[in-house]
Amino acid sequence: MIFLQIDKTSQGKYIYQQIYAGIKESILQGKIEVDEKLPSKRVLADRFQVSINSVSNAYGQLLAEGYIYTIERKGYFVENINQFIGQQEKAPPDLPNDLREKHSIKEGWLSLSHMTADISKFPFKKWLKCQNEAIKNHQEELSEITHPQGPYLVRETISRMIALTRGVRCEPEQIIIGGGTQPLIRQLMTLQKESTKVGVENPGYSRIYSLLQSMKFNVSPINLDKKGIDINEVEVGDPNILFITPSHQFPTGIIMPISRRIELLNWAALSNERYIVEDDYDSEFKYGTDNIPSLQSLDRNQRVVYTGTFSKTLLPSLRISYMVLPPELLRTYRHQYSNYIHGSNSLSLFTLHYFIESGEYERHIKRMNLHYETKRKLLMKQLQETFKDDIDIKDVPAGLHFFAHLKTNRGYEEIHERAEKEKLELYSIERFTLNNKYKGAGNGISLVLGFATIKVEDIPEAVGRLRRIIK
Ligand SMILES: Cc1ncc(COP(=O)(O)O)c(C=O)c1O
Repeated sequence: MIFLQIDKTSQGKYIYQQIYAGIKESILQGKIEVDEKLPSKRVLADRFQVSINSVSNAYGQLLAEGYIYTIERKGYFVENINQFIGQQEKAPPDLPNDLREKHSIKEGWLSLSHMTADISKFPFKKWLKCQNEAIKNHQEELSEITHPQGPYLVRETISRMIALTRGVRCEPEQIIIGGGTQPLIRQLMTLQKESTKVGVENPGYSRIYSLLQSMKFNVSPINLDKKGIDINEVEVGDPNILFITPSHQFPTGIIMPISRRIELLNWAALSNERYIVEDDYDSEFKYGTDNIPSLQSLDRNQRVVYTGTFSKTLLPSLRISYMVLPPELLRTYRHQYSNYIHGSNSLSLFTLHYFIESGEYERHIKRMNLHYETKRKLLMKQLQETFKDDIDIKDVPAGLHFFAHLKTNRGYEEIHERAEKEKLELYSIERFTLNNKYKGAGNGISLVLGFATIKVEDIPEAVGRLRRIIK
């Protein structure tokens, strides 16, 4: 028997929704037997003084969700539905507190983060103009899913650009565009055997280190010397894949000299099982020197995987990065990812194509180079004047951050707590040390100081806060 309470004056729910909900509840509570015939639409409509249409819509919804079935010319019947285990009335438990996110508003904060780009100088109008071009000219491509490696046209543009700026030698076919360096590296590593040994720089990019660990690879941090990753340790550790940042070592800033580059390439050339992944994350920014050619451009044996990103030159929120695979890896990639749906937003990618093709990208980088150089010099000057002999700045004229060592008796934990109180976003080498070597060293602290976001006029205040944190 169906019991329905219909409120015709209800503002919230349509009549058909009330009928649907009432019958559904009766079925779930076993008040209507399995295979029991429901009243015809007309009978039910008469009984509750509602329109046949309302009953028809309610039966249609119950049918679509599988609560009832229909037999032609006989009517509607109740489906055989399993009962839920446990108490149905019980509300789902609240999300545990440790899983809740804190949404603190960073009002009054200043940032010396290395992870940002200066949005105040981003040419949004020009970007939107290029976006309009993309919408006008790529209707067909925008209405379908793209090639697993990203649109060919955009890969062509990127390959031309990195040939010019980084000396990277590749065909568009070798480029894989992705929504970030991490997802690309994840894809690359799924092409490797489980037994693959991986070497990473220490200190180094901890996000890649934790990604590789989470993928259960045998990953070893390899120490640096003055030229970058220590070649002797590489030879002893004998990894199959070596992750490095030769253009501007992250985070120390070392620019790898040609002698070490050749040593590493020669090491990789000795086996077809060895690859070097060159993470060229911020090489576009050099102050006072020309761009230094990539490691990939020196490689004669197709042992280098090159990765690049638009996170520093444009905005990290765009999530456009790419990797260049040597042919052998590309073949495995094609085989494994033929069914893959590309994860980037094609509209942004075609926009990027016009942004580069129109010369806007090059102009933007030139402008940003000048702008960042001004801020870099000012921040260094202010730090030097404030900390005098207590600071040792590694002045490498590249990238969007530099490395500095400060004398202090305070440990890293204390420094970070004080930075929180002073509202200064600050990162130290502790975060990038992959084997705890720097923790509690007691002889000062090493900081990774980014200058992309901080406004020129806020630099004195940021350094003042840093002084209060350290002293
Ligand atoms: C060392 C290093 N590699 C790569 C990247 C770029 O990552 P993505 O392309 O995912 O933005 C960054 C960004 O901060 C980085 O610091």
